Amino acid sequence: MPLVTTKKMLLDAQAGGYAVGAFNVENLEMVMAVVRAAEELSSPVILQTTPSTVKYAGLDYYLAMVRAAAERTAIPVAMHLDHGESFDLAMQALRTGYTSIMIDGSHGSFEENIAVTHSVAAACAPSSISVEAELGKVGGKEDDLEGGDGNPFTDPAQAQEFVARTGVDSLAIAIGTAHGLYKGVPKLDFDRLSAIRSVVSIPLVLHGASGVPDESVREAIRRGICKVNFATELRIAFSDGVKAYLARDPEVFDPKKYSKAGMENVVSVVKDKIGLCGSAGKA
Ligand code: 13P
Repeated sequence: MPLVTTKKMLLDAQAGGYAVGAFNVENLEMVMAVVRAAEELSSPVILQTTPSTVKYAGLDYYLAMVRAAAERTAIPVAMHLDHGESFDLAMQALRTGYTSIMIDGSHGSFEENIAVTHSVAAACAPSSISVEAELGKVGGKEDDLEGGDGNPFTDPAQAQEFVARTGVDSLAIAIGTAHGLYKGVPKLDFDRLSAIRSVVSIPLVLHGASGVPDESVREAIRRGICKVNFATELRIAFSDGVKAYLARDPEVFDPKKYSKAGMENVVSVVKDKIGLCGSAGKA
């Protein structure tokens, strides 16, 4: 079917007490793997690209691949811009045909974040394209979460004001996760999540889910997370598959062969994550 927006997908997840997995894709094989895994489990699914991925091949290239995959299946598939860093990039994604857009103004002040998020939400509203924003700061690659790096977690009262003043459809919050690999076991601030949920009615988003213990992801979903982002574990799965194939057969020169090994690994990780999110059978 044609690509769908994330609006109904996430509201259905919120009503049903599950989350939709959002999977970062880098190439054709990862696109095929994510959609195949979702199709096999009858799950709605979100594919997403970060600005650095977009820079690698272009919004149009990734959109074309995901659209082709969506049109071959009956499950709902959305194409999302992850961490859109500027109004301009968000508008490029909108014009290209992405069906869901994140504007990440969390690097600026509270007022700057509100201003840029409000502009993107207003620009996307006429075409009903859903907009995700971020408040607070999800840690970076080197953040082991033990010592803290001064990045603030999301403040519930600010979250309430932010949502009311911007008109966004979903909100990514900082409760102790970080992008990339963790040095220790991440401890999530579940009380903060519940406090945010009690004053914010739109779907909440958890970034940096690779390496977060399954039970913590489940608890976050129980407390109101409706979209969970996974990137690093998929990249590792794809790369490990390719590396293992090349180690077994160093003479291989057909990219389809070793890329398929990476693809199969990604299918398996995505199926696990869909199970964890509870979205199997919800397509
Ligand atoms: P991970 O790389 O930790 O899975 O984070 C993914 C993410 O949040 C993308 O926005």
